[in-house]
Amino acid sequence: MEDAQELENLILKYTAALKTLETQISILLQDFEHKYNYNPVEHIKTRIKSYDSASKKLISKGYDITIKNIEAHIHDMVGMRIVCSFLSDVYKIVEIIENSDQITIHDKKDYITNPKDSGYSSYHLLVYVPVYLIDGVNLVEAEIQIRTVAMDFWASLDHKIAYKFQGKIPEEIKEDMQNCAKDIHRLDQKMLNINNEMQIIKDDQEII
Ligand code: GTP
Ligand code: MG
Repeated sequence: MEDAQELENLILKYTAALKTLETQISILLQDFEHKYNYNPVEHIKTRIKSYDSASKKLISKGYDITIKNIEAHIHDMVGMRIVCSFLSDVYKIVEIIENSDQITIHDKKDYITNPKDSGYSSYHLLVYVPVYLIDGVNLVEAEIQIRTVAMDFWASLDHKIAYKFQGKIPEEIKEDMQNCAKDIHRLDQKMLNINNEMQIIKDDQEII
């Protein structure tokens, strides 16, 4: 019974953290768009990890299923994914969040510069979000994944494959996905170059 109460408290804290994070990020992005007349975001998804998925993750990491272990070892109970068009947008968004006084970054993982062996590519920020409850401020951990539309396409297929094969992925599919990841990186570079060129031509025309 005490456990059920504790779990409810934890979910309340995570829900509050997600609301706070959504609000803070949306204000930062609105301000950026207003100042620079440019919106670097394609779309944003958020979620709170379910108790079932958290339990599975704890087991896979070798921990008992307890509320303390969820808090200590699951770093993405509160999750936000920001998807954008161009590689440069990813770094713009990282910079915007870095400059925020409210969100504190405590770890960065640049899987774009250093993709995972699987081919997975994204920029991850592990952050603390301040949540004000009646007993004071709580710093709640959240994971923000920032990636391009192309990386998102890759990751969603990868996720389906992992689910389908329950982790035992055939070698040829692994290789195909590693090659797709390389193609996607090249494509992201090309699209960025075209966008930059277009910008230069547009700027020149404006000067003339
Ligand atoms: P967990 O993987 O969350 O236990 O922690 P970690 O410290 O290994 O963090 P990591 O940065 O590797 O992964 C965090 C999240 O990134 C995962 O929960 C997934 O959402 C995503 N991710 C990481 N690797 C992959 C991958 O190979 N494929 C896909 N589709 N997603 C991945
Ligand atoms: Mg991992």
